[in-house]
Amino acid sequence: MGVAVPDTYVELADLAMARGVAPGKYVEGLGVTRMGVPLVNEDTVTLAARAARMALESAGCSPEDVGLLVVGTETAVDHSKPVASYVQGLLGLPTRCRIFETKHACYGGTAALQMALDWVRSGSAKGRKALIVCSDIARYGVGTPGEPTQGAGAVAMLVSDTPALLALEAGKTGVYSKDVMDFWRPLYSKDALVDGHYSVQCYLDALEGAYRAYQEAAAEPAGEGAYSDRFAALVYHVPYGKMSRKAHRHLRTLDGDTAPDASFDRLVGNSLVLPSQVGNIYTGSMYLALASLLSTASQDLTGQRVGLFSYGSGSCAEFFSGVVQAGAQERVKALGLEARLTRRRALSIPEYEDVMRAREHLDERPAADAAGTGFRYQGTRDHKRIYAT
Ligand code: HMG
Repeated sequence: MGVAVPDTYVELADLAMARGVAPGKYVEGLGVTRMGVPLVNEDTVTLAARAARMALESAGCSPEDVGLLVVGTETAVDHSKPVASYVQGLLGLPTRCRIFETKHACYGGTAALQMALDWVRSGSAKGRKALIVCSDIARYGVGTPGEPTQGAGAVAMLVSDTPALLALEAGKTGVYSKDVMDFWRPLYSKDALVDGHYSVQCYLDALEGAYRAYQEAAAEPAGEGAYSDRFAALVYHVPYGKMSRKAHRHLRTLDGDTAPDASFDRLVGNSLVLPSQVGNIYTGSMYLALASLLSTASQDLTGQRVGLFSYGSGSCAEFFSGVVQAGAQERVKALGLEARLTRRRALSIPEYEDVMRAREHLDERPAADAAGTGFRYQGTRDHKRIYAT
């Protein structure tokens, strides 16, 4: 696994004060402390490439071993050329590699992951690995209710028949999809549009449908106590921390638990440590929450089952599960994700607003002459995006 976030962020308490809102509404009410805000040299491609490089390095995997690269994103940089092709070029992945992009709001990365699992299980992988990258920059209008739920980042995962972090359980998955208009981004807009409170209800309805479908698919004998106590942890899609709390309350109520909040810290708390510092990263949000669980849980999760709930507006959702592998927590801790977050620089609100304005025209920004290094977006020349390697 690899994770990339912007080097800069906005403190939600500062944003609240600038908008004339009590800081408690964003920090406690939404459960977000900071949100990542990318500068103009960062885009969906650079975040994806940085996360993918970290995943390859962390696994000691050569680019030559990758036979499938899929980037899930809803903030792509081109109507035709996939983010995945740019990533292939930046990372030097082999030409004998199937490459494409998937889109279904925040579910796009999970769609890619499930497809990669089938590719591995079918034998088509022939020992090669799939590289799945979820990369997005969440953007709502300045001053809108969605503004404090922005964020940016990417999570990359290597999928193979020798899992080192999580062994995803074949057949244990429940899907729910429904045509709803809860959140969308018209072709003419850089900002997402959302029917905020309705989107929360759509998420909860999808959770219920997917959780019930999972239980039917898993077909396990009835047991004592709450069904969700079969999991050592639950990782929900996190558009903002409070949504996970609402999700957990709903799921435990479905289980017949009359004190549905009592298990929240035990089953969910660790998964929210990193997301609360980064905000919504759309496709990668649930996987950042998984990274958070594995890097911050103090108890040994080896051999324990984790439940995962992925939700994409529009909508499609999936509840699935995996078993934590020996050494997984040490591997993710070794990525030093918490330390990386503390090294970021805070933007003042005027700086953040300048960045938001500059990002409006990012796609047409003339390419800077300076070569630069480290997977940075330099601008466009002859209608082609230029990246520093
Ligand atoms: P809002 O309507 O301005 O906020 O925006 P609110 O009035 O609902 O207040 C939020 C919470 O703060 C409430 O808590 C208040 O009580 C509390 P709740 O009742 O929900 O438990 N509050 C305070 N707490 C402490 N101190 C205070 C205080 N004041 C109030 N002083 C909304 C909220 C989520 C609607 C908005 O931010 C929004 O539209 N966000 C974007 C949409 C979104 O994230 N939806 C989530 C579900 S859909 C999804 O997850 C998919 C998505 O990721 C996209 C994709 O799939 O691609 C979004």
